[in-house]
Amino acid sequence: MVLLKWLLCQLVLFTTLSHAFTDYLLKKCAQSGFCHRNRIYSQNIVKTHHSYYKLDPESIVHDPFQNILHATIIKTVPRLDGDDISVQFPFSLSFLQDYSVRFTIAEKERTVANDSSFLVSTQRYNETWLHAFDEKFPDKVNTTSSFPEPYFLGQEHTANSLWSKLTSFLSLSNSTQDTVYLQNGNVSLEILTEPFQLKIYWKNTLKLIVNEQNFLNIEHRRTKEENFAHVLPEESTFNMFKDDFLYSKLDTLPLGPESIALDFSFIESTNVYGIPEHPTSLRLMDTSQGEPYRLFNVDVFEYNIGTTQPMYGSIPFMFSSSSTSVFWVNAADTWVDIKYDTRKNKTMTHWISENGVVDVVVSLGPDIPTIIDTFTDLTGRPFLPPMSSIGYHQCRWNYNDEMDVLNVDSQMDVHRFPYDFIWLDLEYTNDKKYFTWKPNSFPNPKRLLTKLNKLGRNLVVLIDPHLKKDYEISDTVINENVAVKDHNGNDYVGHCWPGNSIWIDTMSKYGQKIWKSFFEKFMDFPHDLTNLFVWNDMNEPSIFDGPETTAPKDLIHDSHIEERSIHNLYGLSVHEATYDAVKSVYSSSDKRPFLLTRAFFAGSQRTAATWTGDNVATWEYLKISIPMVLSNNVAGMPFIGADIAGFAEDPTPELIARWYQAGLWYPFFRAHAHIDTKRREPYLFDDPLKSIVRDAIQLRYFLLPTLYTMFYKSSTTGYPIMNPMFIQHPEFKDLYDIDNQFYWGDSGLLVKPITEPDQLETEMIFPPGIFYEFASLISFVNDGTYLMKKNIMAPLDTIPLFIEGGHIISMKDKYRRSSKLMRNDPYILVIAPDAKGSAVGDLYVDDGETFGYQKGEYLRTQFILEDGHILKNIPSHTPDNLVGTEDSILRNTNIEKIIVAKSELQHDIKLKDAIMVKQDGEERSLSTELSYEDDNKIIITNPMIDITESWELTF
Ligand SMILES: *[C@@H]1O[C@H](CO)[C@@H](O)[C@H](O)[C@H]1NC(C)=O
Ligand SMILES: *[C@@H]1O[C@H](CO)[C@@H](O)[C@H](O)[C@H]1NC(C)=O
Ligand SMILES: *[C@@H]1O[C@H](CO)[C@@H](O)[C@H](O)[C@H]1NC(C)=O
Ligand SMILES: *[C@@H]1O[C@H](CO)[C@@H](O)[C@H](O)[C@H]1NC(C)=O
Repeated sequence: MVLLKWLLCQLVLFTTLSHAFTDYLLKKCAQSGFCHRNRIYSQNIVKTHHSYYKLDPESIVHDPFQNILHATIIKTVPRLDGDDISVQFPFSLSFLQDYSVRFTIAEKERTVANDSSFLVSTQRYNETWLHAFDEKFPDKVNTTSSFPEPYFLGQEHTANSLWSKLTSFLSLSNSTQDTVYLQNGNVSLEILTEPFQLKIYWKNTLKLIVNEQNFLNIEHRRTKEENFAHVLPEESTFNMFKDDFLYSKLDTLPLGPESIALDFSFIESTNVYGIPEHPTSLRLMDTSQGEPYRLFNVDVFEYNIGTTQPMYGSIPFMFSSSSTSVFWVNAADTWVDIKYDTRKNKTMTHWISENGVVDVVVSLGPDIPTIIDTFTDLTGRPFLPPMSSIGYHQCRWNYNDEMDVLNVDSQMDVHRFPYDFIWLDLEYTNDKKYFTWKPNSFPNPKRLLTKLNKLGRNLVVLIDPHLKKDYEISDTVINENVAVKDHNGNDYVGHCWPGNSIWIDTMSKYGQKIWKSFFEKFMDFPHDLTNLFVWNDMNEPSIFDGPETTAPKDLIHDSHIEERSIHNLYGLSVHEATYDAVKSVYSSSDKRPFLLTRAFFAGSQRTAATWTGDNVATWEYLKISIPMVLSNNVAGMPFIGADIAGFAEDPTPELIARWYQAGLWYPFFRAHAHIDTKRREPYLFDDPLKSIVRDAIQLRYFLLPTLYTMFYKSSTTGYPIMNPMFIQHPEFKDLYDIDNQFYWGDSGLLVKPITEPDQLETEMIFPPGIFYEFASLISFVNDGTYLMKKNIMAPLDTIPLFIEGGHIISMKDKYRRSSKLMRNDPYILVIAPDAKGSAVGDLYVDDGETFGYQKGEYLRTQFILEDGHILKNIPSHTPDNLVGTEDSILRNTNIEKIIVAKSELQHDIKLKDAIMVKQDGEERSLSTELSYEDDNKIIITNPMIDITESWELTF
């Protein structure tokens, strides 16, 4: 207790004295027993070249029904007396879909029945994939089948036929250098038995070597007493049975050392990406001279930029520029070392987890979008958010009471700032008790929701998994026995915002059910009030007096699972339980929930948006927000943003302007501020700042049709929304480390936000093509075959923003108070032709708020420009219920204006005397009176055409 009090004092002291995160609270690799041991092991193995692991060729069997190859990997621990210890690790390998290989390595001794002398399960935890993979993965609904079931996405489960294809390629050869060859379509692999190694090929080109460096290490079961006999010469015994780190000394480590580690060499690439969340560059750093990247969900207030320290969320998915990925399906504390070898043109990575099994999915493909597509096919597609939630969110810790909320609401309108969501942080609760409202401040939530609902606006309230002791909700959790337990099996009590708290155990099915019942009661409003949504914060979980700001690793979930095994999954379990609860409450209106979570794991994209946590109002945090948002976008979780204009401290007016100009491109667009900061709702600013911010928010709203289409695309393929340049143009190696300018999806919008003070111009990089400056449509041509650098003027009211030739952008252009009120507005098309006068643009439209789109209630169409003057609309899907404006899910479907940009290559294109429309076999001419032309563009107004019908317009 003394230690805890001391710790709390330290925390308080440091949060008041210092602006940077107190990073001594977090372990360095050398302070983490299993990380240190594996790094030492790898350093020694590099010198001795020993390998203690081989795959026993005699053990290879294939299960024709499950399409799995099974074998045993043997670890031999040499002993001086010659009585070597041999440990068995069951190995399995299967092909998933056309692009992926999955393999697992378990520990035989730890697959047998649980040893009941321990409170925690003594089996290695092997269920991370059940949480990470999408529910369409068959095993998730088939509890009788054993681990792992092969899965062939997009094709019938043709067990026998595929396996016979495999066996024809399978050859077991000589005894010393045995190699097994397997092939499935374009993917082939070799299993080398001694030492154990996998070589994985795409179209016969080697892409990945598993265990090339012999870093495979599985700390098998042993007691402290017998430990000395089980240690390899290259191993360190540092902190195997205890933890010396100041803040986690109390860890009981009931099962001793149990880490797993393996190396992966990415061939023909020295660029790797992914493994968010970290405040570093998009292209991951070489860690050989520093700390490994760490994946361990923790609360890092004012995190340190440029470090590999862990953050709130973890997605253990990494890919190389040679279109090869590794998904390390493990939710324990994990460290990843990266070493680029430019001479050999490869990247060596070393993955180390504290416990669990080795469960790895390797994917290959023709390009990076396919890799992300495959990953989000396996782990689930990003959810399609309600249209309103991709508008602007106004948040503050805290809007104090109902009057305050309604005042912000009306001031936004008075000053003509569109917005869709207003947020309540912690203080709306009665004494920090979730599922309650502070009685005097929010006496009538129904009245508040009703008022906001009038303009289609929404309210978000904070609900966290820590529950104050001694009130109705926490009492229920205790009585129903669904609180997270300590290592003795008692309800764990820790310190969080409300003081002494317990934690809901959403890893348990019954815990999820109890959690849901709280929402049913809390959200019991009339059925037409479906504008209350939820935000799960602090779900890493954040525990003020816990080790490394989070949960002790020996806590117990679901009566037998150690926190150590599922730490990075807990946050996902909280937000999924919350999502299911809100979805169920709104089921009668079929509303899609919006949900924000701070902690995340692979699979979180199925139900939640996230943000980059507690940043600071400084230029460095603005700058780093862009690679951070890009990293999540390439790791299957695109719906992310950073708090605008910095959560902690007071931003300068210039920083506010630049942050809104950058933030409008984040898929999640929210302003948020710490309780100690000055009020900064945008209407409080003086001009010119006020109008600069208004222009930024307004531009976001004008672009909503394009953005929503990108969200739709992402929800079907995982395609990034804030999109790194190298994904659009992989042919240019110089783009592989560009993370300060980016595309918006595949829309052709290219942006470079200003992220430094006093910067009135910036150098942008352009691939070959025509680029049209967005506001003026003035263009320039990069007619070479190389990248071109160009200075772009960027006074404070200007965002360096271009449309790449070849694209058509759908917009709306009228100020409305919320996105819902824009539904009746017609469309504007902005056409940016390429050198051949061609351009393409997609548009997706649905009701913006229900699951109706899953039943076909949506429109998909494509606009195509040919020869610079023929525009076609080709709808590929139209909903049935288009009639009647009120009932129509699409409302106004007219195109009001078409703006065709003209580059210097198209000066000969002039507006013809007659504008002709061909539709339904008829041809009619349009009045040209309302059309307009200058050097940069042609504008056609009121063309009397509609997005739902096919037509061809010639101008
Ligand atoms: C579940 O899996 C087992 C073993 O693979 C199989 O025999 C059984 O038919 C499956 N059940 C269902 C409902 O798919
Ligand atoms: C986990 O491993 C045990 C022991 O091998 C096995 O019985 C069980 O089916 C596995 N569970 C999953 C979900 O793979
Ligand atoms: C057996 O090993 C030899 C020498 O390593 C090799 O040339 C030969 O191809 C191998 N046989 C098979 C069937 O792989
Ligand atoms: C590495 O290999 C890739 C793929 O073959 C190639 O495009 C690239 O130029 C190589 N890089 C170097 C530095 O050799």
